[in-house]
Amino acid sequence: MTQPGAVSSPGRAEKEGPDWMTGAAIYHVYVRSFQDTTGSGEGDLRGVIERLPHIVALGADAIWLSPFFVSPMADSGYDIADHCDVDPHYGTLNDFDALVSAAHGAGLKVIIDLVFSHTSDRHPWFRESSQDRENPKADWYVWADPKPDGTPPNNWLSVFGGPAWSWDRVREQYYLHDFLPSQPSLDFANPELRRALLDIASFWVARGVDCFRLDTMNSYFHDADLRDNPPRDDEEAGRRPAANPFHQQLHLYDRAQRGDIAPLQAFVSAIEILGAATIVGEIGNRLKRTEGPIPLRCHTYLLPDAPLEAEAMGETLAAAWNRSPDGRVCWALSNHDTPRHASRLRTAADGRATALQAAALLACLPGAVVVYQGEELGLEEADVPGDQVRDPLGLRLGPAIRGRDGCRTPMVWDDALPNCGFTTGEPWLSVAEAHRNRCAARQASERGSILSAYRELLALRKRLAPLRIGDFHPVDLAEGVLAFTRSDGIEMVLVALNLSDLDVSFDLGGSMSAGAALVHGEASVGEGRLTLAAGSYAVLAGSR
Ligand code: BGC
Repeated sequence: MTQPGAVSSPGRAEKEGPDWMTGAAIYHVYVRSFQDTTGSGEGDLRGVIERLPHIVALGADAIWLSPFFVSPMADSGYDIADHCDVDPHYGTLNDFDALVSAAHGAGLKVIIDLVFSHTSDRHPWFRESSQDRENPKADWYVWADPKPDGTPPNNWLSVFGGPAWSWDRVREQYYLHDFLPSQPSLDFANPELRRALLDIASFWVARGVDCFRLDTMNSYFHDADLRDNPPRDDEEAGRRPAANPFHQQLHLYDRAQRGDIAPLQAFVSAIEILGAATIVGEIGNRLKRTEGPIPLRCHTYLLPDAPLEAEAMGETLAAAWNRSPDGRVCWALSNHDTPRHASRLRTAADGRATALQAAALLACLPGAVVVYQGEELGLEEADVPGDQVRDPLGLRLGPAIRGRDGCRTPMVWDDALPNCGFTTGEPWLSVAEAHRNRCAARQASERGSILSAYRELLALRKRLAPLRIGDFHPVDLAEGVLAFTRSDGIEMVLVALNLSDLDVSFDLGGSMSAGAALVHGEASVGEGRLTLAAGSYAVLAGSR
């Protein structure tokens, strides 16, 4: 057994310079499903202002808003038609300014999603680009001639089903779309485009935004020679749902290219010079294909794709952390694209135990951590009936792939109110019946609720410096126990989650006998021993 006290490497320094993101807890708001204030059935920016007290009480340091820009909403706002204005569904620029000022007033930083890999086909840039082959924006998107037989330039596929190419009858060329045909892919290799994107970032920094999440960064670059992707031949190929042919290819050429790091880094650095931090999203595939440190100097958004099982999760976390020498990792367990983790990672008979274990894990991880709205209530993936599916992924590829609506259903605030307080109108996606008894109002006053656990855990993260800035070292305590230490060189915290279905008890070693910071479930510390019943966890503070 490795003794926790054996950890020797120095901790990272407390919030170097202006890097407020180190150790931050970020609350991810999926605006469309958060709080409606107009009766439209869709959440809005004023609704976020109304619910800031919930986010503050949770103990978050920042809010991350999903896209609220002008959009035909073919992909829930990830199809942007104007990057510098608010969609009327969500409010106005004045509402945005009011939100930034209320958030800052409440001590919260503001992060927004910048979708720079594609736009809506209704974006003025695409309208201009598609007019002819000579216009000033002719090369801002990825255009290509057909093969001699008239078929698309190569075999690339859209994530949402079908070929990644559509024919434009005016330009008489194909254009690339990694997602929907109404989401043409931008050509990030074009320096004029990059300047225009930076102007957008500048616009939002001037309005007070503190950080940008660069969405789908892997789709920024494509092979200049448009080579065909080979079929997948690795052992994972068979595990993917055949219902989406996209996963049958090895995505060597349609995303993440070797030469893209330098322009990406230059772009991220230019954003930093503007005064904002950057989180890059969805670079998981790139990391699987490469070795060594994460090549970009900015925060990396990672959703560990391991089961909540001691060995697998421990290895996954350690591997990602070891590749991040500057510690700028940003972990999430759930988001608007992935089944909620109380269901996805479920280990125990009830999702509640999983939700609690996951909360303790997330709150104690190194780097920044992201809480996706509703996970603090222990919400499980909602069962959205086939005839109510709204997600284009589910609509185009269903019924085998139901899409992502199950993690996007409205927040449940108060079950005494219509639609649990989300809207007085007809919600764009129904409130999940199974979520009714998890409403925030109930849990807020309930000792031992999942919401109370999140509040306690995030308060602990604020209180114990090692949890924010400390090093991360996995420790081997007992089979089925996911354990690690966090140390800032002065104090050390031991985190132990009993993920097995057996009770365990072990010696802590002298240095950890200082006392229990937080135990949950049937866990106890005494005489240098920690006892953890199945499903319980402990976060212990001690000196080194
Ligand atoms: C967003 C998805 C969206 C996709 C394409 C992603 O990264 O997170 O929700 O469907 O971009 O727009």
